[in-house]
Amino acid sequence: MEAPTHHILVCCSFRATGEPQGICHKKGSADFLAYIENELVDRGLDNVQVSSTGCLKVCDRGPAMVIYPENIWYGGVESEADIDAILDALEEGTVAADYLIG
Ligand code: FES
Repeated sequence: MEAPTHHILVCCSFRATGEPQGICHKKGSADFLAYIENELVDRGLDNVQVSSTGCLKVCDRGPAMVIYPENIWYGGVESEADIDAILDALEEGTVAADYLIG
């Protein structure tokens, strides 16, 4: 397996107990995973991986996600349109400024 060039980490609010508790999960971040996976296929972004994570500790800005290796933190990601804008920026090598946090 080749290492991905980018990794998208989507907060799904998992706590140490494994329970998903937090704003990102409550606002549907787990549902974003399948959408992102499908978009990556549709866009031919075979070298981008997406994973769910525990709480990213920016709950007040959630739903949150991070793109590595650029270390770009996004918040307020609440819809498929928001994700489209973020993936557009990823493809273009830019940032989706409307969602930047940190
Ligand atoms: S629950 Fe997502 S940042 Fe804390």
